[in-house]
Amino acid sequence: MSFCILGTGMYVPPKVVTNDDLSKMIDTNDEWIMQRVGVRERHVSTRETAADMGAKAALAALENSGVKAEEIDLILTASVSGESISPSVSCMIQNLLGLSCMTMDINAACSAFDFLLETAAGFFARKKVKKVLVIGAERLSRLLDWTDRSTCVIFGDGAGAVVLGEGDGYMDAVFDVKGGDRVIDIPQPVGMSPFYERGQEKKPYIHMAGQETFKFAVTAICKDCKELLRRNNLTFEDIAYIVPHQANKRIIDFASMKLKVPKEKFCVNIDRYGNTSSASIPIALDELNRAGKLKRGDLILLPAFGGGLASAACLLRW
Ligand code: UT7
Repeated sequence: MSFCILGTGMYVPPKVVTNDDLSKMIDTNDEWIMQRVGVRERHVSTRETAADMGAKAALAALENSGVKAEEIDLILTASVSGESISPSVSCMIQNLLGLSCMTMDINAACSAFDFLLETAAGFFARKKVKKVLVIGAERLSRLLDWTDRSTCVIFGDGAGAVVLGEGDGYMDAVFDVKGGDRVIDIPQPVGMSPFYERGQEKKPYIHMAGQETFKFAVTAICKDCKELLRRNNLTFEDIAYIVPHQANKRIIDFASMKLKVPKEKFCVNIDRYGNTSSASIPIALDELNRAGKLKRGDLILLPAFGGGLASAACLLRW
């Protein structure tokens, strides 16, 4: 027994920041950002927390699924941008939804949505749950150095959610982690202990070696998708859609070229939301679902990659 997706939902805050808006704050321009990243605009929270956005995406997914909030047995949440370490973002979402079920956060940065699905599959396999909410919720605007043009133009805020029920839609997944803080790093403040040896402290913002991340991302998408297909005796022709983590439009284009898979098979919405880390796959999945593009039985690949460094891909039957 695994699960199937009963419904999807998303939420983005109302404030839209365009590339032209950014070019008034830092030395950048729409042409560079569109060519190198593929982002035209992103939504930015002025007030709402990651948990506030996650709860709104969850309510949209519940409505889409026809499942009542009280039926949820478990809330799994991914976020690197919650306002507090404790309570966790999933605890805050549980509180906002007025529920009393078990909750848990998983930190696997931009790949986390796939790690959440795999965790949910374990609960279903052990028959511990019947309905699960899985949420990626990010307020990355609070982790950005808004004077650093190499990072602040890429990311955006938002949340995506799915409601899972018993079924056989989750077919397989692969995971790959190479731990280290050299390529992507979001340090916490060091702390005030008078006993610490002080060195040069890195600012608590997103630091990223862009080109190294880019190469890692393209390699990861290709390797993880091919491995999943090989293990399940499938080819890309059997796949209806690839819903990748929206890190950079050029990463998706490169992967499409290397894999010789038509671009139309890849869902892309980074132009409107930027990179929303763990929220990007469920947001893209919700758009696909609500556009009526998914038919029961369609096979979907969800490749993800990012901080850790971690990568993953899931194979789902809709
Ligand atoms: O989800 C987490 C995973 N993150 C990612 O997957 C991101 C992966 N990496 C990337 O998407 C790209 O590497 C970036 C978008 C971060 C950077 O693109 P790039 O093509 O690798 O550019 P670059 O870093 O090599 O910079 C090229 C030039 C530099 O100028 P010089 O040294 O050639 O004079 C930069 O200073 O572009 C300059 N530049 C900019 N110019 C205008 C960097 N950022 C900007 C900017 N506007 N925002």
